[in-house]
Parts: sequence; C-alpha cells; structure tokens
Amino acid sequence: MTADFTKSVGILIVSTVVVASFSLLVWVVPNIVRGPEIAIGSAALPLTAIEVAGRDIYISEGCHVCHTQMVRPLDPEIARNGRANKESDDIYEFPNLWGSKRTGPDLTNMGRKYSDQWHTIHLINPRQVVPTSIMPSYPWLFEQKLSGDDITGKMETLRDLGVPYSAEDIADARLQVRGKTKGEALIRYLQSLGVDTSEEAL
Ligand code: HEC
Repeated sequence: MTADFTKSVGILIVSTVVVASFSLLVWVVPNIVRGPEIAIGSAALPLTAIEVAGRDIYISEGCHVCHTQMVRPLDPEIARNGRANKESDDIYEFPNLWGSKRTGPDLTNMGRKYSDQWHTIHLINPRQVVPTSIMPSYPWLFEQKLSGDDITGKMETLRDLGVPYSAEDIADARLQVRGKTKGEALIRYLQSLGVDTSEEAL
C-alpha cells in the first residue's frame, strides 16, 4: 500500500513546505522585486508623528474591524467612496488596514469630508450626528492623553521599513504627540486619509 499525506507525517510536512514556498514565490517575490518601481509612481505621503499615533489608536480600538480602506475598481463603489485604490497608495502602510468587513462605510478617502468638530462629536457619540448609527461611542478617547514616550521608537521602526523620515521628523515626534488626547490624534489620522492620493487620476 502506498502512503499518501493523510498517513505519512513526512509527506505532509514536505507537501506543506512545497505549497507554502509556492505562494511565497508568486505573492511575495514579485512585490519585493517591483517595490522600487511601484514607489516611483506613488502619490502617497508618509504620515506625520501625530498621524502615526492616531493610526495606532485606530488599530487598538478595532476601527478596522468595521471599516475597510480599500475601494475596489467597481463603478458603484467609486461613486460612493471616491477613487479606487492603487498598489502605490500603500507603500508606507505597515501593516495595511484594508480590512475585510464593512459594517460601516469605507474610509479610504475620509480626509476633508467632515470638520474636526464633526469627528469629535461623532466619536464621542455617533447618534448625535447620525441618529440611526450603530457605531460604538468612544468618549474616553478625549479624556486619555498620550505621553508620546513610544513614538520615537515607532517612527524609527517605520524608517527602517522604508518610510523616508528625516532625523528632524523623528526628533520632533515626541513633542508633536505629547499631551494630545487620543481623540485628537485619531482625528488627525482620519483627516489625512486619501488627501494625498484621492485627487490623482485612476
Ligand atoms: C461596530 C462597527 C463599528 C466600529 C467598531 C467602528 N465604526 Fe465607524 N461606523 C460604523 C457605522 C455603522 C457607521 C455609519 C453610521 C455613522 O456614520 O455613524 C460608521 C461611520 C463612521 C464614520 C463616518 C463615515 C462616513 O463616510 O460618513 C467615521 C469617520 C467612522 N465611522 C470612524 C470610526 C473610527 C475612527 C472607529 C474606531 C474608533 C470606528 N469608526 C469604529 C461602524 C463602526
């Protein structure tokens, strides 16, 4: 009787490695090779220190669980959310926040859509501006202040990953963030979304 992978651990391991290496080859390698070429055509701008801090709050509060940042190139989606994403939009995104579930609207091109004041009210209690909203309230974001202690390390890590921060950007980072509320930082991030790329042609 010949052994197949359901019976032999050895074959199972070898076939898993082969399949995993294949996906590495077709997904990862082309992106590494084409990385510099994609970056040349990119309109994306690196986030400022306060925007980086806001992005971390977006992640820690799980905003990406209900909101995508990925407009697909389909007419109804472009009509609703603006310009479709390009691969060059995400060269400074570590990790990307494309998301996969849309309980709320896509936020790719959110910047400039509302005022800071609208966002503040909406985050404290979404029902104040959208009566039927099912989005949770986040009142503590405007009570908790950021120390800025970890921002320098984060900016340095992003620089190591390829975000072109200057020594000055990194030196100023802590001062930019220190004493700001989490909500203020989050709004700076929301207002930055798509302002660099949304006007660019499809
Ligand atoms: C449980 C799912 C859920 C979570 C978690 C969530 N949202 Fe929402 N969000 C919604 C829904 C639903 C709407 C649409 C109704 C409204 O505007 O409140 C919305 C609307 C929005 C809008 C307005 C979008 C537009 O185009 O009008 C913004 C901005 C927003 N959310 C930001 C956030 C941020 C920032 C967080 C994290 C702090 C967050 N959301 C977390 C569900 C969610």
